[in-house]
Amino acid sequence: MHTRDAKIKVLGIVGSPKRGATYRAVKEALDAASTVPEVSVDMIELRGKKISFCIHCNKCIKNGLRYCPTFPEDDMRDLYQPMIEADAYIIGSPVYQMTVTGQLQTFFNRLRPIAPLFTEGLFATKVGGAIAVGGTRNGGQETTLETINNFFFCTGVVVVSGGVLAYNGGAIWSKDRGAKGTEEDEVGMRTLRVMGRRVAHIARVMKYGVANLPKPFSSSELAGIDQEEMRKGFEIRDRLREDEELEERRTFS
Ligand SMILES: Cc1cc2nc3c(=O)[nH]c(=O)nc-3n(C[C@H](O)[C@H](O)[C@H](O)COP(=O)(O)O)c2cc1C
Repeated sequence: MHTRDAKIKVLGIVGSPKRGATYRAVKEALDAASTVPEVSVDMIELRGKKISFCIHCNKCIKNGLRYCPTFPEDDMRDLYQPMIEADAYIIGSPVYQMTVTGQLQTFFNRLRPIAPLFTEGLFATKVGGAIAVGGTRNGGQETTLETINNFFFCTGVVVVSGGVLAYNGGAIWSKDRGAKGTEEDEVGMRTLRVMGRRVAHIARVMKYGVANLPKPFSSSELAGIDQEEMRKGFEIRDRLREDEELEERRTFS
């Protein structure tokens, strides 16, 4: 699934535990993306991957690690680098209880070791589009798209909408019929292609734009971070945490 000599990398992520309707949907969007000049596409499926829950031990953050030292052997190990290297994302999930799968949410949570890169602005010039695939016509596709788009908001990734007709992303009504169900939803298939192309075009504009700016910019500023404000914020937080720990020791001694 690679286009040679490409400069712009679009990474598809399939949040389903199966190779079914969502895989088919993400593939359709990636195929459309790959028609844009200089764009290469790649795909990661979360299906069959062992990804433990983030337990908020913060060992990655405290030790400045770009990997998780708590679960070093699980499959997240190989997923940080592709996320860092991509210029754009197309993330798709089946609708589970009107939101993303547990697998996808866990994957988002486990990106914590690379969270410092979000605040440094590394992701602020990347773009992302969302896809939701539900078995029911109005089964929560919109709320699922919102969850994926919220992930982009949290990381600084620029959200690419589906444009004037696909609004917040690609949406499929699969009727629980797997890949065939996706293909049968003609209207939904169109939203995937439109969104996939838009992601690729905007990623290209972004990459050329950044490379050709007359003056460099502060990437952390682009991410919405004022370093001085951040430092002050962390100082206050650490002080509060120390007070809390002292209080806890007093209570339980
Ligand atoms: C645990 C679970 C929860 C689901 N919840 C919803 C739901 O809230 N709304 C909906 O439309 N479909 C729901 N579905 C159906 C799937 O979204 C649908 O079959 C989808 O096409 C599966 O995609 P996949 O083949 O890529 O896994 C649910 C399925 C499962 C297994």
